[in-house]
Amino acid sequence: MTSEGGTEAVKLWGGRFDASTDPIMEKFNASISYDKAMWKQDIQGSIAYAKSLQKANLLTDEESQKITDGLEVVKSEWASQSFVIQPGDEDIHTANERRLKEIVGDVGGKVHTGRSRNDQVAVDMKLWLLEHIVQLAPHVTKLLEVLVERADREKSILMPGYTHLQRAQPIRWSHWLLSHVWPIVTDLKRLRSLYSRINVCPLGSGALAGNPFNIDRENLAQELGFDGVTKNSLHAVSDRDFVVEYMFWASLVSSHLSRMAEDLILFSTSEFGFVKLSDAYATGSSLMPQKKNPDSLELIRGKAGTMTGNLCGFLMVLKGLPSTYNKDLQEDKVKMFETACTIMGILQVAAGTVATLKVNEDVCRNALSEEMLATDVAYYLVKKGMAFRSAHGKAGEVVKLSEELGCALSQLTLDQLTKISPLFEDDVSSVWNYEHSVEQYKATGGTALTSVNTQIAEAQEFLQSFRLTQEE
Ligand code: ARG
Repeated sequence: MTSEGGTEAVKLWGGRFDASTDPIMEKFNASISYDKAMWKQDIQGSIAYAKSLQKANLLTDEESQKITDGLEVVKSEWASQSFVIQPGDEDIHTANERRLKEIVGDVGGKVHTGRSRNDQVAVDMKLWLLEHIVQLAPHVTKLLEVLVERADREKSILMPGYTHLQRAQPIRWSHWLLSHVWPIVTDLKRLRSLYSRINVCPLGSGALAGNPFNIDRENLAQELGFDGVTKNSLHAVSDRDFVVEYMFWASLVSSHLSRMAEDLILFSTSEFGFVKLSDAYATGSSLMPQKKNPDSLELIRGKAGTMTGNLCGFLMVLKGLPSTYNKDLQEDKVKMFETACTIMGILQVAAGTVATLKVNEDVCRNALSEEMLATDVAYYLVKKGMAFRSAHGKAGEVVKLSEELGCALSQLTLDQLTKISPLFEDDVSSVWNYEHSVEQYKATGGTALTSVNTQIAEAQEFLQSFRLTQEE
């Protein structure tokens, strides 16, 4: 089919083509099925660009008004879901321009003066991502609020702390909760700094060489709410670091939540029994009636893998690309949208699961066993003047003796203890107390009540002062 009368005639780039595109290629090449998500940003960019063209005397006031009005109509069609995608609409940029021309006639063809889909797609994606991040941030803060609020409410609950998944030392349940707060606090700070790196406008870079019509790019960027403009047009049209960084951010957050989820999955087993998930965030088995499965947490753990897969996959797309725009870059949107949708889900389900689970205080406390106080025995001797290395050895002998006699540490008599070290006295009885044990760790960051309270206060202060708005 020749371009005359063929679909190529209506294609933005159809002029130099004789033959039509193979339908398989047409489908393969099209991105409209997913990049239509950026319809609003695409129109926003075009309206601002039309204004710039007007200021540069490439559009009369009347033409600019006509284009803007036409774009507003296109916008309302998308908003009311009445926009009809036509078979030749390759992507959102093509679709909007085609529709604009149908509405306003030939003048619609002027909006693309000096612009390319290469700088257009980059600006659309940045606008979309900035908006998404502003919507995402409250979901991160919500999760933090849930964790901090629980930590504040349940400070009296003691549980075993683990290393190598072996019982190690007694800790406060709140201390465990807060251990998952701080990585996410840093994630939020990262999100804010990421926001400012995205906030640089690539529009006005053309296909690759720049804009030949003296567009005021600084003014255009300001119109669109950006902080500044990109410095090099070749770089601007091919830069997808903002997508990579965002996907890294999402991978890291999901990896943090995956680790928390893993703890909670273990804590919810019958073997541990520390927590019980709410029915709202668990599912049953189609075969075994007794089962209550922690699917919410397992999906968080699983999706963390998918997030990282997206990141690595897209890095592979970028690696080795020659300079400036290449169609490989179209792969960016699939990954970016999927990541955005998944991380939203992860954050909301994590907040809901943590907010609604029940912690079983008695089971947590009963899981504490006296051998977990062996370190405290060593610290006792240290306080009596013994070097820690020797104290560690003596405490080891105490544990060994209790194992040999088949009794708990607290059941050893003072006589038996003083045979191991004459430094043991009556006050050793104070060591056999879990509350006393956790209260030793008063230094900043420890599990003592004062330290936990400090963490809560600092986390609350952070949450009160943290804002991520469009005006960043
Ligand atoms: N749909 C394309 C993308 O998402 C838009 C840019 C097309 N540019 C081009 N030179 N073919 O990357």
